[in-house]
This record gives sequence, C-alpha cells and structure tokens, in this order.
Amino acid sequence: MFDEVISFIQDTYKTIEHIPLHEPKLIGNEKKYLNECINSTFVSSVGKFVDDVENRLADYTGAKFAIATSNGTSALHTALLLANVERNEEVITQALTFVATCNAISYCGAKPIFLDVDKDTMGLSPSALKEFLENNTSIKNQKCINKKTGKVIKACIPMHTFGMPCRVDEIKNICDKYHIFLIEDAAESVGSFYKGKHTGTYGQIGVMSFNGNKIITAGGGGCIVTSNETLAKRAKHLTATAKVVHKWDFYHDMIGYNYRMPNINAALLLAQLENIDNFIDKKRELAYLYEEFFNDTSYSFVKEPTDCKSNYWLNSIIHKNKQQRDEFLSETNLNGVMTRPIWKLMHKLPMFQNAQCGNLRNAEWLEERVTNIPSSAIL
Ligand SMILES: Cc1ncc(COP(=O)(O)O)c(C=O)c1O
Repeated sequence: MFDEVISFIQDTYKTIEHIPLHEPKLIGNEKKYLNECINSTFVSSVGKFVDDVENRLADYTGAKFAIATSNGTSALHTALLLANVERNEEVITQALTFVATCNAISYCGAKPIFLDVDKDTMGLSPSALKEFLENNTSIKNQKCINKKTGKVIKACIPMHTFGMPCRVDEIKNICDKYHIFLIEDAAESVGSFYKGKHTGTYGQIGVMSFNGNKIITAGGGGCIVTSNETLAKRAKHLTATAKVVHKWDFYHDMIGYNYRMPNINAALLLAQLENIDNFIDKKRELAYLYEEFFNDTSYSFVKEPTDCKSNYWLNSIIHKNKQQRDEFLSETNLNGVMTRPIWKLMHKLPMFQNAQCGNLRNAEWLEERVTNIPSSAIL
C-alpha cells in the first residue's frame, strides 16, 4: 500500500539501504578545525572557535549578540532565568512540542500552560494565545495574573516546529500587551526566516540547538541570541558559572551554571556554519521534490505558509487518519525508510498531566496524523 512512497524515497536517496531521518553532513573544514583545536590544546570552555561561532551566529541571524551554550536545553533554561522566571510562576507554551521546552520550564520550578498550535505552521497559535489571555487573566502592577491559579504568567515560549516559522510577530504583540517575556524556541529553525527576519530574533531571546540531528551540528551545542546587551552580558555570566572575570582570582557572585559550549564543539560548528547556505538550498530542493510527489497522493505535504522561509529541517506529511499513519510508520520502518510520528502532546506525559491547557483542537488533530519522512540534505 505504501510501496510508491517507499520507492520514491529510495530513488531520491539512490539507495535501498537504511535511510535515516536526518544525518549530519560533515563535508567542509570540520577535520581541519578540529585538528587546529586539538593542536592548540584549547579543547574546553575557552578558545577562539567559541568567539568565532558567536560572531558568525550574530551576523547570520541579525541578532546583536549570540552566546554559545552546551546544548539547546541549557540555552532554554538560561533564557528562562534571564526572564526571571521563578518557582510557582507560569510559562505558556504549545502542547505540541519537544519535551525539552517544558523540561526547561520545570528546571525553574515553574509550571507550563499548554495552548493550541496553528494547523499550517504547527507552531503556537496567536489566536489561541489571545483568546486564553483575554478569558483567563488580568493585569496587576504590570504583571499578567492567571485568574484560575492566582499565579504570574511570566513568559511565553512559542516553538518553530520542524523549522516552519510560526506567526511570531503577532505573538510578540500579544505578549507585549500582557507584559509577558517572549522566548522563541528556535532549536529546530536555524536558517528559517519569518517576514525576512531570522526566527529567534522576534522575542527578547531566541534559543537554538546544534545537536547531531539538527540542520547544522556542533556534536552537541546550542546558543542564545538577543539584541539586548544587558541580557547578553547576563547570559554569558550565568552560563560561565557566574565567575567574575579576573586573570587569576576565583570569585562567583551568584549561583551559575556550567553551560558554555566547549571550544572543540565550536570548531565543528564553525565548519558547519560555513556550509549552512548550501545545506538550506539542498534541503529546500528536497522539499520541493516531496511537494511535487505528494501532490498526486492522498497525503498532504506540509509546505511553508506565506511570509515563511523554512529550512525544511524535517519534512512532514499529513495522513488521512491515525490508522493510516500507524500503518505507514510500520511499513516504512520495516523497509529501512526511517519515519517518525510527531510528539505526543505534552499534557499527556506523566510529569505534565496536571497542567492547565487551552482548547487543543489543532494539536490533537496533528498529533494523530503527522509523520516525518527522511530529510537529510542530498549533496
Ligand atoms: C524544540 C526543541 N527544543 C529544544 C531542544 C533541545 O535541544 P538540545 O537537544 O540541543 O538540548 C530540541 C532538540 O533537541 C528541540 O527540538
């Protein structure tokens, strides 16, 4: 039943061997920079490659500052600390996301509130956000108070699902009106732009991941982007154990974190950054091939909506129903073509089962129908 899709993917990747969902492409200066890094002996948390990638990331995204971190989750945790999210406060995010977004909220002792996504972007829906805030909150002393719990809603984290930008300009306007700090989870959307601006640069802070499965990788790594100098300085300080800079003395002025990206990871990332435009061109070509192919089938391929330029990190298709999705997952994986369902909604996980939720109609619909298909750039 799914033979046609399996054959198309095998023909596209020119192999009948196992086809992964997304593999890193290490085709540039990776070995050269890693050797340079090893020869310098600066393999750990200081070194020239860290400075280089931070400058490049700021340039590439258009943010004034980029702070490299050990991974995307630590970047998210730091972003929430910079927003002063405290124990027993609340943070709005989408029900349809990767668990790291919500884990980071829990690291602060805060509680997530799960809202719906838009069907086309699969990211936080501005209308769901507006409706929830209008019906459930009041403003007191420039703070947004949840009428049901009496708690402060301090921040909001929309996520750009699979690299598809969500309507983050509208989300920003709503957050501003309600005194809510906006952190974009752009872990999956390095190289994706909304209305010509890089994802992650609409919020006060944006967060990215360079895990091995992402569009570019540091092995493991992440970053925080911001155009606010005070936040950037605090981010550097917090991620470097809050050590007050001094040539020999140890003085830490608060509880800090060891969240800096090691120089050896930055060496790998620099080589990857040099190739990012090429990777994105190739991934967009692949998405176009998929789009054409799926036009003539009973699935729909998830295309970038107007105003979005997606990196097409993971290509997605929408099945008629859950049964077709489950059969597709089983048949493709048994035939060596790796596919995956979208995540379970966050409030269905044991640790978030008591969280407050809005109406999750679109998220529920997508949860049953979306699968990712192989998406590695073909070079
Ligand atoms: C949406 C989202 N947020 C956060 C993360 C966390 O990034 P990392 O794996 O680098 O910690 C990931 C990916 O892994 C992600 O997909």
